[in-house]
Amino acid sequence: MSRPNHVDVNQSGHTKSEDSLFTLVENEECDFSKLLEKPPRLLLNIERQRSLDERSLVNELSIGMSPRLCARTTDLHISSSRVFEPLDMISSPVGRRSGFNTPRSQTGFEAHPMVAEAWEALRSSLVYFRGQPVGTIAALDNSEEKLNYDQVFLRDFVPSGLAFLMNGEPEIVKNFILKTLRLQSWEKKIDRFHLGEGVMPASFKVLHDPVRNNETLMADFGESAIGRVAPVDSGFWWIILLRAYTKSTGDISLAEMPECQKGMRLILSLCLSEGFDTFPTLLCADGCCMIDRRMGVYGYPIEIQALFFMALRCALLLLKHDDEGKEFIERIVKRLHALSYHIRSYFWLDLKNLNDIYRFKTEEYSHTAVNKFNVMPDSLPEWIFDFMPVRGGYFIGNVSPARMDFRWFCLGNCIAILSSLATPEQSTAIMDLIESRWEELVGEMPLKVCYPAIENHEWRIITGCDPKNTRWSYHNGGSWPVLLWLLVAACVKTGRPQIARRAIEIAESRLLKDNWPEYYDGKLGRYIGKQSRKCQTWSIAGYLVAKMMLEDPSHLGMVALEEDRQMKPLLRRSNSWTL
Ligand code: GLC
Repeated sequence: MSRPNHVDVNQSGHTKSEDSLFTLVENEECDFSKLLEKPPRLLLNIERQRSLDERSLVNELSIGMSPRLCARTTDLHISSSRVFEPLDMISSPVGRRSGFNTPRSQTGFEAHPMVAEAWEALRSSLVYFRGQPVGTIAALDNSEEKLNYDQVFLRDFVPSGLAFLMNGEPEIVKNFILKTLRLQSWEKKIDRFHLGEGVMPASFKVLHDPVRNNETLMADFGESAIGRVAPVDSGFWWIILLRAYTKSTGDISLAEMPECQKGMRLILSLCLSEGFDTFPTLLCADGCCMIDRRMGVYGYPIEIQALFFMALRCALLLLKHDDEGKEFIERIVKRLHALSYHIRSYFWLDLKNLNDIYRFKTEEYSHTAVNKFNVMPDSLPEWIFDFMPVRGGYFIGNVSPARMDFRWFCLGNCIAILSSLATPEQSTAIMDLIESRWEELVGEMPLKVCYPAIENHEWRIITGCDPKNTRWSYHNGGSWPVLLWLLVAACVKTGRPQIARRAIEIAESRLLKDNWPEYYDGKLGRYIGKQSRKCQTWSIAGYLVAKMMLEDPSHLGMVALEEDRQMKPLLRRSNSWTL
């Protein structure tokens, strides 16, 4: 079948034939190989996104911020000759608030009364092992059956860890990193099957033996988890947190410890191994991330792919250039190159792409196929046509042979922005979408974990009739306050503080009053979730991180990565399928 003579318009308004466009993209595709030549520098391209929002952020910062930081930030935003500014320049100094139990706002903003309450709650959630704080408990709710909510979850600890880092208390993060590293080296077995060496646990617990007056650790790598799935995200979060610690403290000695280097390499070995894959994305089972129940989030879900990308980029910054490290660096660079191309191209959906898919031909054979994965236009769900705004776009939930999951997933899209997996244009488009679909995605409590809910027959087939994941509840379109920190970080990175402020205000109107629920139910997130825990630690920590990040945007450097300097904005908003 011959290639259709597709004609398109690029950013500068030039009309290009499909073939020449293809060449352009191939040539200008992000060049991670440059990263090998020189240790990468973290760059903040602030000039690109001069929205009204951003200008108001600068104004506000000039009012509330310390003169030193204010001068630097204003400089960053205003200087037209300095397009790039190293994130290092605005990294947050550490240790400045040590000793304060309940920190005050350093920048002069009036701290919301909820902030002190949140700190108190976060501190009560601390878990100690042999006298040292090593993590935070998932929920301090004794009214419900505990299940595993009395454990320290790796993914749940990330916002806690960030809050402590931002508050100048890095010790607990260091303890957590080292303790979980020790757990990684355990022999992991489910029935008679051994798990990969690099697998990090989903959670762990401190067991007290009053008779021997001893404490031991117990970890769950998936062998106790509902569904028996190993958490693919744990190892990625571990690397991301290690980089946040290093960035925030300036202490590279932790990451450079041979044990940490080995831990990273083990995680990387698991996800960079060669197999039968034809895609650079990582194949995984349902329930292997924050959404840890059967929800049709298997194959190549964006939730994992974005974390994978971010962890690879963080590892690239942390790996030593010794013999063992070098080999991995090379593999990472190659993978990043392919991964960013694949996801930016095939996962991206906006009005134009949607229209293209709607008109797709099927059963195309050979490398000239436009509809490469043979997606049936009839599989487009009804809701997507109304949901897609004129301005905006997002990375869809999943792409695999003959299957596109069009659902919106919050974590994957926010991480895509923070890691610069999304191009600057795509990042702006994601924020535009959130703004124009506010009711649906934020409503009365930030933020929908995914949108929309699956119902009826689809719910039966996809969840296996899961009574916890009924429509608009829990993982199935429920609203999770923890996601607030990711949204706010994405807002700060894209220069859209108004969006962050609006979301925080909504959360502040209810979160404390409702005693920090784990999740909310309903189309608008109006109801405290059916089986929602109260005093859920990551709801508390997520709020604190969101507040601190908006107050002092220099914290962004801990969780954000800029594009490589050589990486040009390459793909148009509407790209990919018609290339
Ligand atoms: C639930 C959530 C999971 C979280 C855990 C502890 O299982 O689905 O994402 O890590 O609770 O809060």
